[in-house]
Amino acid sequence: MRRKLAAGNWKMNGTRAALSELDALTVSAEGPEVAICPPATLLAEAVSRRSDIAYGGQDCHPHDAGAHTGDVSGPMIADAGARYVILGHSERRADHHESDADVAAKTQAAWKAGLSVILCIGESLSEREAGETLGVIGAQLDGSVPEGATAETLVIAYEPIWAIGTGKVPTTEQIAEVHAFLRSSLTERFGEETGGAIRLLYGGSVKASNATEIFAVADVDGALVGGASLKAADFQPIIDAL
Ligand code: G3H
Repeated sequence: MRRKLAAGNWKMNGTRAALSELDALTVSAEGPEVAICPPATLLAEAVSRRSDIAYGGQDCHPHDAGAHTGDVSGPMIADAGARYVILGHSERRADHHESDADVAAKTQAAWKAGLSVILCIGESLSEREAGETLGVIGAQLDGSVPEGATAETLVIAYEPIWAIGTGKVPTTEQIAEVHAFLRSSLTERFGEETGGAIRLLYGGSVKASNATEIFAVADVDGALVGGASLKAADFQPIIDAL
């Protein structure tokens, strides 16, 4: 039985005042797991504020420490009290030219630090229109996910690039096709037990009005939510739809 996960990615949004949004969320041990991935500057304070929410970083460097100005390492994120780190988000792949190999190296570093990785994959609009979606996603999965993945250390987030922050959402058939492909790929590679237990999130313009429909799709175990995770009033109905 895979525990549902509602993960909020605050991206580069929020100063300390935004942490009051955490206070307004209602979560329960019987309900879905709720995780918030705030900017790195807010991580430690968020952790100390509320312990029934899980927290995550938004990236980590492949090295534990060293001369890498501006970067944050896996051990630093773990030390701040986080359980998760988002890796391979399409914004990182675009803004920082991260390759699948980079994401795989970061994933290994995160695992070494004891973090669970929310690993993002997804196709561009031109790739979808060219009928290349499953090929692109399969290549990203193969290239980004190292050997040794387990259900405790890996969550996959399917985020079509064209659906992020745009208000456009794939049809439930399109989401179902990709998630079924991800499940069978993971099962083939890691075996029935592990492949069947790794959680698969959908991400891209999830909001209160479409969450119930998306969460009814087979093999959708939750969501990675951007804009609608910034305010408790927007995120709560998504949590409650799981
Ligand atoms: O990581 C979250 C995704 O990029 C989705 O962002 O919900 O604002 O479309 P969005």
